[in-house]
Amino acid sequence: MVKYEPNATAIIGGAWGDEGKGKVASRKAKEADLVIRATGGANAGHTVVFEGKKLALHLVPGGIVYPQTTCLIGQGVVIDLNVLLKEIKQLEGLGIPRVRERLKISGRAHVVFPFHKDLDELYEIMKDNPVGTTKKGIGPAYADKDNRIGIRMYDLLLNLDELEKKIEQETRIHNILFMNIGISYIKSSSELVHEFHSFGIVFKDMIVNADHLVDEFTRKEKNIVVEGAQAYRLDKDFGDYPNVTSSNCVTDGALIGAHLNHKDLKETIVVLKAYFSRVGNGPFPTEQPAHIQDDKVTEYSDEEAYNGDIIRKYGHEFGATTKRPRRTGWFDCVLVRSSKRALGPDFLCINHLDTLGKIGKDVGFIQLCVAYDYQGVRIDYYPDDMELTHEVPKPIYHWFRGGWDIPSSLRNYEDLPEQAKKYIETIEIQTGIPVKYIGVGPDNEDLIVREDIE
Ligand code: IMP
Repeated sequence: MVKYEPNATAIIGGAWGDEGKGKVASRKAKEADLVIRATGGANAGHTVVFEGKKLALHLVPGGIVYPQTTCLIGQGVVIDLNVLLKEIKQLEGLGIPRVRERLKISGRAHVVFPFHKDLDELYEIMKDNPVGTTKKGIGPAYADKDNRIGIRMYDLLLNLDELEKKIEQETRIHNILFMNIGISYIKSSSELVHEFHSFGIVFKDMIVNADHLVDEFTRKEKNIVVEGAQAYRLDKDFGDYPNVTSSNCVTDGALIGAHLNHKDLKETIVVLKAYFSRVGNGPFPTEQPAHIQDDKVTEYSDEEAYNGDIIRKYGHEFGATTKRPRRTGWFDCVLVRSSKRALGPDFLCINHLDTLGKIGKDVGFIQLCVAYDYQGVRIDYYPDDMELTHEVPKPIYHWFRGGWDIPSSLRNYEDLPEQAKKYIETIEIQTGIPVKYIGVGPDNEDLIVREDIE
């Protein structure tokens, strides 16, 4: 058998998403030949910058801004074709070269239909404890995939009759549900078939056998970057079920979604923020009190701000996709330590170290969670039976006095303020994972890379 060196870098969210994976992904994509989006759908979002102009992407890999890359939307993604087409047009509008030529879509990726979004909303209404989904139809689209009635990108290339048969089968089951609760939501399959057959014509040249495409790159030992979506605690197996997304967004799930296997993986970079945030419901041990109710910020003055409000203010913590105010809290080393089982990290990237310094100055201190008090016992791992005990673990904190200032132009680790270095080094000791990348400002370039860490 011919052996080749593994050449894929996976970039994976380490907590509940929104860690700023785009920054390190963009750094890595600069030298990449193939950039792959592996899981999730339009529930994810990150900003790309091209010649000073910014654009929020939900489906197209951010690596598209680099003209040498081929970009693939892999089999693990569920695709909202209206969103995808809008993004392609926006990218072309920015002057990014050969977007339709360089963007490839796995023929096995599944399609999100408008009724999936309606179902997402309906299921949330019907649940005793709603998850707080993004309402982008993600769960219902994956459910149809699991139920083997989903429509794949390849199906859009079928003739009208064959496609209509498939759509009719998929909608039949859902229509019963809609009828039972007295609404006729779903367009008939004959209406949908024309719309989605037209999408087939638009995307025809981008739809590929992605196993074969990826093979071309792995065999030639080309640089591959896998852009993960969502994060460790949102994974449907490892995460805070049921408050999770509907995909396996940990490293191995991302590999499957990207048409790769474990032998292709060279390194895994786990991305976190120097403080934590979460949108949607579910446990968050280090969460700080804030003026948020039902996804809305309630009235308060600066003098009355809770620590959670202060973190949200400096971090601009509002959902990129949903605009919801995010819940915020301190960095949790216990969670990161526990994530090693799921993520197999080589390095950490810690974003927003500059923001944390400002938060510390305003609050007067910074806390770093190093252990939990759970059921009256000190533990050093993330428990998975909180629904059973009805208890969220209480963090045991390491304290740092005040905060720090970091100019976004700073690139040398040694030049960081002593307290900030101590903070990073405490994370390394507590988690056992080296921090190779540190975000110090809003732009993609505002990143310290510790080249001495290998
Ligand atoms: P869904 O993925 O829309 O089904 O939402 C399930 C849960 O995952 C909700 O709590 C969402 O807020 C959360 N979620 C999904 N995508 C993201 C993301 O990209 N960042 C942060 N949270 C997300």
